[in-house]
Amino acid sequence: MLESFLRGMTGVSLPSALAMAALFPWNEVGSFVDVGCAQGGATATIALAHPHLRAIGFDLPQVGPVFEAYVAAKGLAGRVRFEPGDFFADPLPQADVVVMGHILHDWDLETKLALLAKAHQALPAGGRLIVYEALIDDERRSNAFGLLMSLNMLIETRGGFDFTGADCIGWMEQVGFREARVEHLVGPDSMVIGTK
Ligand SMILES: C[S@@+](CC[C@H](N)C(=O)[O-])C[C@H]1O[C@@H](n2cnc3c(N)ncnc32)[C@H](O)[C@@H]1O
Repeated sequence: MLESFLRGMTGVSLPSALAMAALFPWNEVGSFVDVGCAQGGATATIALAHPHLRAIGFDLPQVGPVFEAYVAAKGLAGRVRFEPGDFFADPLPQADVVVMGHILHDWDLETKLALLAKAHQALPAGGRLIVYEALIDDERRSNAFGLLMSLNMLIETRGGFDFTGADCIGWMEQVGFREARVEHLVGPDSMVIGTK
């Protein structure tokens, strides 16, 4: 069941990962950590598109073997590694960019802010955080997928909910990020990029 969930996340995130690989200025950085990386679909997609990058997939220890097999099959074993950890108990690995895909919507507002603050701590000055999710439009009128996903999270989790780009920018600024902005990826997904 674990493996099938982690593989499923690759299917969900691949189109956004391809867009993120194309749209973010990866040439300006040397490393990234994919927090809550699952099988590593997004981690590998970005690393394959940018051979100069070193990458870390960070997730719970039981995800490690699934991530490592996927990354090895993509020929990335030397450049992309897994770091086991619990993002509530452990500090996040340090890198030039922290990526958080479909993580924040699992949790309530207090936990979202704590995770954003942890990302801020893991980054050097000038480092960037990319949050990508099915962002709800700021007027909460047109992104039906994001609104329904939020309803889904409210049913499936204790406090999780999806959010607008403006919400995410506000939270990022609250924990110390600056120049946060939204960029559309593909379909219902957008990324919010903030700078430390
Ligand atoms: C919804 S999936 C997102 C996967 C991937 N980022 C994507 O967008 O395709 C959430 C991920 O967070 C991981 N996760 C959940 N709780 C965690 C924790 N306490 N510490 C580290 N990772 C955790 C899960 O194992 C899972 O891989």
